[in-house]
Amino acid sequence: MSARLVVLASGAGSTLGAVLDAVASGQLPAEVVAVGSDRPGCPALARAEAAGVPTFAVPLSQFADRADWNLAFARALADHRPDLVVCAGFMRVFGPSVVHRFRIVNTHPALLPAFKGWHGVRDALDAGVKVTGCTVHVARLEVDDGPILAQEAVPVLDGDTVETLHERIKAVERRLYPEVLRTLAEADEPVASKEETG
Ligand code: GAR
Repeated sequence: MSARLVVLASGAGSTLGAVLDAVASGQLPAEVVAVGSDRPGCPALARAEAAGVPTFAVPLSQFADRADWNLAFARALADHRPDLVVCAGFMRVFGPSVVHRFRIVNTHPALLPAFKGWHGVRDALDAGVKVTGCTVHVARLEVDDGPILAQEAVPVLDGDTVETLHERIKAVERRLYPEVLRTLAEADEPVASKEETG
């Protein structure tokens, strides 16, 4: 039976598109059973709908606090019984009620542990590094933390802006992430384990 993936995205959804394409072409032996977001109406959800994939949105603004939002997100995820939750440009951080319950992977546009956080591309450019890249990792409670599954370097070119550099990194992510997901989907356990609750 193929692995059940729920992909989470907040933005343009080009990484989601690469995952959907890899499934459609047979490169990724898995099923995207749903696409979820914190941002109703974001282009990623429209992309999923166009591909005929069920979607859901759980906006933080509709909840009293983050704990309630996490519980609602966990319920929405559980409805789709995912083997693996795939963050693909998902711009929120989950708390224990999600992280301890699901196997979650993430792709980040920098070579972790360098340049964690929301501005990984800008921070790398500001630091003047000559090489940055992307990292696919198991998601844990700390932002952009957790065991690294794959990394690939991307050179910083003279005259790069955040946009040009991020676009080249995203092009690598669109190839690398489906490759890593394939390895996980073919494994007995999609990722080593959920985060220990103790
Ligand atoms: C990707 O570069 C991904 O690594 C990044 O958002 C981009 C998504 O692009 N994720 C994060 O920064 C998560 N903190 P997309 O919307 O075109 O798929």
